[in-house]
Amino acid sequence: MTKALPLLEFTDVHVHFPIRAGFFKKEVGRIRAVNGVSFTIRKGQAFGLVGESGCGKSTVARAALRLEEATSGSIRYAGEHISLFTGEERIKFRKRMQAVFQDPFSSLNPRMKAGQIIAEPIRVHGVKPAGEVRAEVDRLLELVGLPLRFANLYPHEMSGGQRQRIGIARALALGPELIVADEAVSALDVSIQAQIITLLEDLQRDLGLTYLFIGHDLSVVRHICDQVAVMYLGRIVEMAPSEELFANPTHPYTRALIDAVPNPDPAAEAGRHIEPLQGEVPSPANPPSGCVFHPRCPLATDRCRQEAPDLGPVAPEHSVACWNAG
Ligand SMILES: Nc1ncnc2c1ncn2[C@@H]1O[C@H](COP(=O)(O)OP(=O)(O)O)[C@@H](O)[C@H]1O
Ligand SMILES: [Mg+2]
Repeated sequence: MTKALPLLEFTDVHVHFPIRAGFFKKEVGRIRAVNGVSFTIRKGQAFGLVGESGCGKSTVARAALRLEEATSGSIRYAGEHISLFTGEERIKFRKRMQAVFQDPFSSLNPRMKAGQIIAEPIRVHGVKPAGEVRAEVDRLLELVGLPLRFANLYPHEMSGGQRQRIGIARALALGPELIVADEAVSALDVSIQAQIITLLEDLQRDLGLTYLFIGHDLSVVRHICDQVAVMYLGRIVEMAPSEELFANPTHPYTRALIDAVPNPDPAAEAGRHIEPLQGEVPSPANPPSGCVFHPRCPLATDRCRQEAPDLGPVAPEHSVACWNAG
Protein backbone atom coordinates (compact mmCIF):
# COMPACT_ATOMS: atom_id res chain seq x y z
CA MET A 1 0.00 0.00 0.00
CA THR A 2 1.41 3.36 -0.95
CA LYS A 3 1.24 6.08 1.65
CA ALA A 4 -0.99 9.11 1.19
CA LEU A 5 0.51 12.50 0.46
CA PRO A 6 1.99 14.37 3.44
CA LEU A 7 -0.29 17.34 4.10
CA LEU A 8 1.15 18.91 7.23
CA GLU A 9 4.80 18.38 8.17
CA PHE A 10 6.52 19.78 11.24
CA THR A 11 10.30 19.44 11.26
CA ASP A 12 12.10 20.30 14.51
CA VAL A 13 9.70 23.15 15.21
CA HIS A 14 10.34 25.44 18.14
CA VAL A 15 7.95 28.13 19.33
CA HIS A 16 9.47 30.18 22.13
CA PHE A 17 7.87 33.20 23.80
CA PRO A 18 10.37 35.75 25.11
CA ILE A 19 9.99 36.87 28.73
CA ARG A 20 10.78 40.59 28.88
CA ALA A 21 11.50 42.76 31.87
CA GLY A 22 12.59 46.25 32.80
CA PHE A 23 12.30 49.62 31.07
CA PHE A 24 14.10 48.44 27.94
CA LYS A 25 12.01 45.26 27.79
CA LYS A 26 15.14 43.20 27.65
CA GLU A 27 14.65 39.46 27.03
CA VAL A 28 15.37 37.79 30.39
CA GLY A 29 14.20 34.29 29.50
CA ARG A 30 12.09 32.18 27.20
CA ILE A 31 8.97 30.12 27.52
CA ARG A 32 9.74 27.07 25.42
CA ALA A 33 6.13 26.21 24.59
CA VAL A 34 7.11 24.00 21.66
CA ASN A 35 10.62 22.65 21.81
CA GLY A 36 11.66 20.60 18.79
CA VAL A 37 8.52 18.94 17.47
CA SER A 38 8.46 16.82 14.29
CA PHE A 39 5.54 14.91 12.82
CA THR A 40 3.79 14.26 9.50
CA ILE A 41 0.06 14.20 8.93
CA ARG A 42 -0.92 12.48 5.70
CA LYS A 43 -3.99 13.22 3.64
CA GLY A 44 -7.07 11.53 5.08
CA GLN A 45 -5.45 10.82 8.44
CA ALA A 46 -6.83 11.75 11.85
CA PHE A 47 -3.75 12.68 13.83
CA GLY A 48 -4.15 13.07 17.58
CA LEU A 49 -2.08 15.22 19.90
CA VAL A 50 -2.54 14.52 23.61
CA GLY A 51 -1.01 15.65 26.88
CA GLU A 52 -1.88 17.55 30.03
CA SER A 53 -2.72 21.22 29.96
CA GLY A 54 0.34 23.42 29.38
CA CYS A 55 2.26 20.88 27.27
CA GLY A 56 2.21 23.04 24.13
CA LYS A 57 -0.61 21.43 22.14
CA SER A 58 -2.45 24.65 21.33
CA THR A 59 0.80 26.35 20.40
CA VAL A 60 1.41 23.55 17.85
CA ALA A 61 -2.11 24.17 16.51
CA ARG A 62 -1.58 27.93 16.35
CA ALA A 63 1.75 27.50 14.58
CA ALA A 64 0.12 25.17 12.02
CA LEU A 65 -2.58 27.78 11.39
CA ARG A 66 0.08 30.47 11.19
CA LEU A 67 -1.43 32.33 14.12
CA GLU A 68 1.99 32.01 15.76
CA GLU A 69 5.37 32.17 14.00
CA ALA A 70 7.77 29.32 14.64
CA THR A 71 11.00 30.47 16.30
CA SER A 72 12.87 27.84 14.28
CA GLY A 73 12.27 24.66 12.30
CA SER A 74 9.99 24.23 9.32
CA ILE A 75 6.28 23.79 8.83
CA ARG A 76 5.21 22.62 5.40
CA TYR A 77 1.75 22.27 3.97
CA ALA A 78 1.47 20.00 0.92
CA GLY A 79 5.23 20.37 0.59
CA GLU A 80 5.36 24.19 0.76
CA HIS A 81 6.83 26.22 3.62
CA ILE A 82 3.88 28.04 5.18
CA SER A 83 6.08 30.90 6.41
CA LEU A 84 6.80 31.81 2.78
CA PHE A 85 3.15 32.16 1.74
CA THR A 86 2.25 35.71 0.77
CA GLY A 87 -0.82 37.41 -0.68
CA GLU A 88 -2.79 35.02 -2.88
CA GLU A 89 -1.03 31.92 -1.53
CA ARG A 90 -1.78 32.92 2.02
CA ILE A 91 -5.47 33.28 1.26
CA LYS A 92 -5.52 29.94 -0.55
CA PHE A 93 -3.78 28.33 2.43
CA ARG A 94 -6.43 29.76 4.80
CA LYS A 95 -9.11 28.02 2.80
CA ARG A 96 -7.33 24.69 2.93
CA MET A 97 -6.84 24.64 6.71
CA GLN A 98 -9.58 25.60 9.16
CA ALA A 99 -9.96 25.41 12.92
CA VAL A 100 -12.58 24.40 15.47
CA PHE A 101 -11.83 25.51 19.02
CA GLN A 102 -12.95 24.45 22.47
CA ASP A 103 -15.50 26.97 23.58
CA PRO A 104 -17.90 27.57 20.74
CA PHE A 105 -19.67 30.31 22.71
CA SER A 106 -16.61 32.52 22.99
CA SER A 107 -15.47 31.81 19.44
CA LEU A 108 -18.85 32.67 17.88
CA ASN A 109 -19.99 36.29 17.66
CA PRO A 110 -22.89 36.56 20.17
CA ARG A 111 -24.61 39.31 18.15
CA MET A 112 -24.72 37.28 14.95
CA LYS A 113 -27.30 34.68 14.05
CA ALA A 114 -25.99 31.22 13.18
CA GLY A 115 -26.77 31.79 9.51
CA GLN A 116 -24.65 34.95 9.45
CA ILE A 117 -21.85 33.23 11.35
CA ILE A 118 -21.67 30.48 8.73
CA ALA A 119 -22.17 32.92 5.82
CA GLU A 120 -19.37 35.27 6.89
CA PRO A 121 -16.38 33.31 5.52
CA ILE A 122 -18.36 32.49 2.35
CA ARG A 123 -18.91 36.21 1.71
CA VAL A 124 -15.45 37.35 2.78
CA HIS A 125 -13.73 34.85 0.48
CA GLY A 126 -16.35 35.22 -2.25
CA VAL A 127 -16.80 31.46 -2.43
CA LYS A 128 -20.36 31.78 -3.76
CA PRO A 129 -22.19 34.59 -5.57
CA ALA A 130 -24.40 36.61 -3.17
CA GLY A 131 -27.56 34.95 -4.47
CA GLU A 132 -26.31 31.47 -3.54
CA VAL A 133 -25.03 32.15 -0.03
CA ARG A 134 -28.33 31.30 1.64
CA ALA A 135 -28.56 27.92 -0.09
CA GLU A 136 -24.93 27.22 0.84
CA VAL A 137 -25.66 27.97 4.50
CA ASP A 138 -28.59 25.54 4.36
CA ARG A 139 -26.38 22.89 2.83
CA LEU A 140 -23.80 23.33 5.59
CA LEU A 141 -26.46 23.21 8.34
CA GLU A 142 -27.70 19.95 6.88
CA LEU A 143 -24.15 18.62 6.68
CA VAL A 144 -23.67 19.14 10.44
CA GLY A 145 -27.07 17.71 11.30
CA LEU A 146 -28.97 20.86 12.27
CA PRO A 147 -32.48 21.83 11.14
CA LEU A 148 -32.50 24.79 8.75
CA ARG A 149 -34.37 27.00 11.25
CA PHE A 150 -31.10 27.20 13.25
CA ALA A 151 -29.94 29.83 10.74
CA ASN A 152 -32.15 32.30 12.64
CA LEU A 153 -30.93 31.49 16.16
CA TYR A 154 -28.32 33.35 18.19
CA PRO A 155 -25.52 31.36 19.88
CA HIS A 156 -27.10 31.82 23.34
CA GLU A 157 -30.30 30.18 22.09
CA MET A 158 -28.46 26.93 21.40
CA SER A 159 -26.94 24.13 23.50
CA GLY A 160 -23.18 23.60 23.65
CA GLY A 161 -23.37 20.72 21.19
CA GLN A 162 -25.47 22.73 18.74
CA ARG A 163 -23.05 25.65 18.95
CA GLN A 164 -20.15 23.32 18.24
CA ARG A 165 -22.03 22.08 15.15
CA ILE A 166 -22.29 25.72 14.01
CA GLY A 167 -18.55 26.08 14.62
CA ILE A 168 -17.93 23.01 12.45
CA ALA A 169 -20.28 24.28 9.71
CA ARG A 170 -18.38 27.57 9.67
CA ALA A 171 -15.06 25.71 9.47
CA LEU A 172 -16.40 23.69 6.51
CA ALA A 173 -17.70 26.76 4.68
CA LEU A 174 -14.50 27.25 2.70
CA GLY A 175 -14.19 23.59 1.76
CA PRO A 176 -10.99 22.89 3.73
CA GLU A 177 -8.82 19.77 3.45
CA LEU A 178 -7.50 19.87 7.00
CA ILE A 179 -9.36 20.73 10.18
CA VAL A 180 -7.49 21.60 13.34
CA ALA A 181 -9.79 20.65 16.22
CA ASP A 182 -8.27 22.03 19.42
CA GLU A 183 -10.15 20.57 22.42
CA ALA A 184 -13.22 20.78 20.19
CA VAL A 185 -15.27 18.41 22.35
CA SER A 186 -13.54 18.85 25.71
CA ALA A 187 -16.10 21.26 27.19
CA LEU A 188 -19.11 19.12 26.24
CA ASP A 189 -20.99 16.49 28.25
CA VAL A 190 -19.90 12.93 27.51
CA SER A 191 -23.04 12.00 25.55
CA ILE A 192 -22.79 15.19 23.46
CA GLN A 193 -19.06 14.56 22.96
CA ALA A 194 -19.92 11.19 21.43
CA GLN A 195 -22.39 12.81 19.01
CA ILE A 196 -19.88 15.43 17.86
CA ILE A 197 -17.19 12.77 17.43
CA THR A 198 -19.57 10.70 15.31
CA LEU A 199 -20.26 13.81 13.23
CA LEU A 200 -16.52 14.45 12.77
CA GLU A 201 -16.02 10.82 11.71
CA ASP A 202 -18.91 10.99 9.23
CA LEU A 203 -17.56 14.23 7.78
CA GLN A 204 -14.10 12.73 7.45
CA ARG A 205 -15.49 9.78 5.53
CA ASP A 206 -17.84 11.81 3.33
CA LEU A 207 -15.56 14.77 2.58
CA GLY A 208 -12.17 13.05 2.78
CA LEU A 209 -11.03 15.43 5.52
CA THR A 210 -7.75 15.29 7.40
CA TYR A 211 -7.69 16.12 11.12
CA LEU A 212 -5.23 17.43 13.62
CA PHE A 213 -7.27 16.49 16.66
CA ILE A 214 -6.08 17.85 19.99
CA GLY A 215 -7.34 16.69 23.35
CA HIS A 216 -6.34 15.79 26.85
CA ASP A 217 -8.82 12.91 27.09
CA LEU A 218 -7.13 9.82 25.70
CA SER A 219 -10.33 7.81 25.39
CA VAL A 220 -11.71 10.45 22.99
CA VAL A 221 -8.50 10.71 20.98
CA ARG A 222 -8.26 6.93 20.75
CA HIS A 223 -11.74 6.79 19.29
CA ILE A 224 -11.23 9.19 16.43
CA CYS A 225 -7.49 9.12 15.61
CA ASP A 226 -5.46 6.62 13.62
CA GLN A 227 -2.11 8.11 14.67
CA VAL A 228 -1.36 9.61 18.09
CA ALA A 229 1.48 11.77 19.42
CA VAL A 230 1.85 12.27 23.17
CA MET A 231 3.25 15.66 24.12
CA TYR A 232 4.99 16.61 27.33
CA LEU A 233 6.46 20.03 28.09
CA GLY A 234 6.92 21.11 24.49
CA ARG A 235 8.11 17.79 23.09
CA ILE A 236 6.63 14.66 21.58
CA VAL A 237 7.58 11.81 23.92
CA GLU A 238 5.80 8.99 22.12
CA MET A 239 4.18 8.56 18.72
CA ALA A 240 2.52 5.54 17.12
CA PRO A 241 -0.53 4.32 15.24
CA SER A 242 -3.44 4.49 17.68
CA GLU A 243 -3.87 0.73 18.16
CA GLU A 244 -0.17 0.20 18.70
CA LEU A 245 0.03 3.06 21.21
CA PHE A 246 -2.80 1.68 23.32
CA ALA A 247 -1.62 -1.94 23.01
CA ASN A 248 2.02 -1.14 23.83
CA PRO A 249 2.30 2.22 25.60
CA THR A 250 6.00 2.57 26.32
CA HIS A 251 6.77 6.00 27.74
CA PRO A 252 6.00 6.21 31.48
CA TYR A 253 4.04 9.42 30.77
CA THR A 254 1.86 7.70 28.14
CA ARG A 255 1.27 4.83 30.55
CA ALA A 256 0.22 7.22 33.29
CA LEU A 257 -2.19 8.99 30.93
CA ILE A 258 -3.70 5.67 29.83
CA ASP A 259 -3.96 4.49 33.45
CA ALA A 260 -5.91 7.63 34.30
CA VAL A 261 -8.71 6.70 31.86
CA PRO A 262 -11.42 4.85 33.82
CA ASN A 263 -12.32 1.37 32.60
CA PRO A 264 -15.93 1.31 31.34
CA ASP A 265 -16.38 -2.13 32.95
CA PRO A 266 -17.18 -1.47 36.67
CA ALA A 267 -15.83 -4.88 37.78
CA ALA A 268 -12.51 -4.31 36.05
CA GLU A 269 -12.44 -0.72 37.34
CA ALA A 270 -12.93 -1.87 40.97
CA GLY A 271 -9.99 -4.29 40.82
CA ARG A 272 -7.68 -1.83 39.11
CA HIS A 273 -4.60 -0.42 40.77
CA ILE A 274 -3.89 3.12 39.58
CA GLU A 275 -0.64 5.00 40.10
CA PRO A 276 -1.73 8.59 39.59
CA LEU A 277 0.70 11.02 38.01
CA GLN A 278 2.50 12.90 40.75
CA GLY A 279 2.88 16.68 40.68
CA GLU A 280 2.25 19.06 37.82
CA VAL A 281 3.71 19.97 34.45
CA PRO A 282 6.77 22.15 35.25
CA SER A 283 7.07 25.65 33.77
CA PRO A 284 8.36 25.67 30.18
CA ALA A 285 10.29 28.81 31.19
CA ASN A 286 12.46 26.72 33.46
CA PRO A 287 12.33 23.09 32.30
CA PRO A 288 14.03 20.32 34.33
CA SER A 289 17.48 19.09 33.25
CA GLY A 290 17.92 15.94 31.16
CA CYS A 291 14.65 14.22 30.36
CA VAL A 292 12.06 16.87 31.22
CA PHE A 293 9.75 14.16 32.61
CA HIS A 294 12.31 12.83 35.13
CA PRO A 295 10.99 14.66 38.25
CA ARG A 296 7.64 12.87 37.84
CA CYS A 297 8.94 9.57 36.49
CA PRO A 298 8.90 6.39 38.60
CA LEU A 299 11.77 4.94 36.54
CA ALA A 300 14.13 7.94 36.54
CA THR A 301 17.86 7.21 36.87
CA ASP A 302 20.93 9.47 37.00
CA ARG A 303 21.18 9.38 33.24
CA CYS A 304 17.59 10.68 32.95
CA ARG A 305 18.46 13.60 35.23
CA GLN A 306 21.43 14.55 33.02
CA GLU A 307 20.75 13.66 29.39
CA ALA A 308 17.63 14.27 27.30
CA PRO A 309 16.60 11.20 25.27
CA ASP A 310 15.69 11.65 21.58
CA LEU A 311 12.59 10.24 20.00
CA GLY A 312 13.71 6.87 18.59
CA PRO A 313 12.02 3.81 17.06
CA VAL A 314 10.98 0.88 19.29
CA ALA A 315 8.80 -0.82 16.64
CA PRO A 316 7.78 -0.01 13.07
CA GLU A 317 6.13 3.44 13.12
CA HIS A 318 6.36 3.54 16.93
CA SER A 319 8.85 5.94 18.49
CA VAL A 320 9.56 6.86 22.09
CA ALA A 321 11.83 9.32 23.87
CA CYS A 322 12.86 7.41 26.99
CA TRP A 323 16.16 5.91 28.18
CA ASN A 324 14.26 2.94 29.59
CA ALA A 325 12.48 2.09 26.32
CA GLY A 326 13.38 -0.51 23.73
N1 LIG B 1 1.41 33.89 23.82
C1 LIG B 1 2.03 33.30 24.84
N2 LIG B 1 2.93 33.98 25.58
C2 LIG B 1 3.59 33.39 26.59
N3 LIG B 1 3.41 32.10 26.96
C3 LIG B 1 2.53 31.37 26.27
C4 LIG B 1 1.79 31.93 25.18
N4 LIG B 1 0.98 30.95 24.67
C5 LIG B 1 1.21 29.85 25.41
N5 LIG B 1 2.14 30.09 26.38
C6 LIG B 1 2.66 29.12 27.35
O1 LIG B 1 3.15 28.00 26.62
C7 LIG B 1 2.87 26.80 27.30
C8 LIG B 1 2.07 25.88 26.40
O2 LIG B 1 0.77 26.42 26.24
P1 LIG B 1 -0.32 25.74 25.31
O3 LIG B 1 0.25 25.55 23.95
O4 LIG B 1 -1.56 26.54 25.42
O5 LIG B 1 -0.52 24.30 25.99
P2 LIG B 1 -1.77 23.29 25.96
O6 LIG B 1 -2.62 23.64 24.79
O7 LIG B 1 -1.12 21.94 25.85
O8 LIG B 1 -2.48 23.44 27.26
C9 LIG B 1 2.15 27.18 28.58
O9 LIG B 1 3.10 27.25 29.62
C10 LIG B 1 1.59 28.55 28.26
O10 LIG B 1 1.46 29.31 29.44
MG1 LIG C 1 -4.67 24.02 24.69
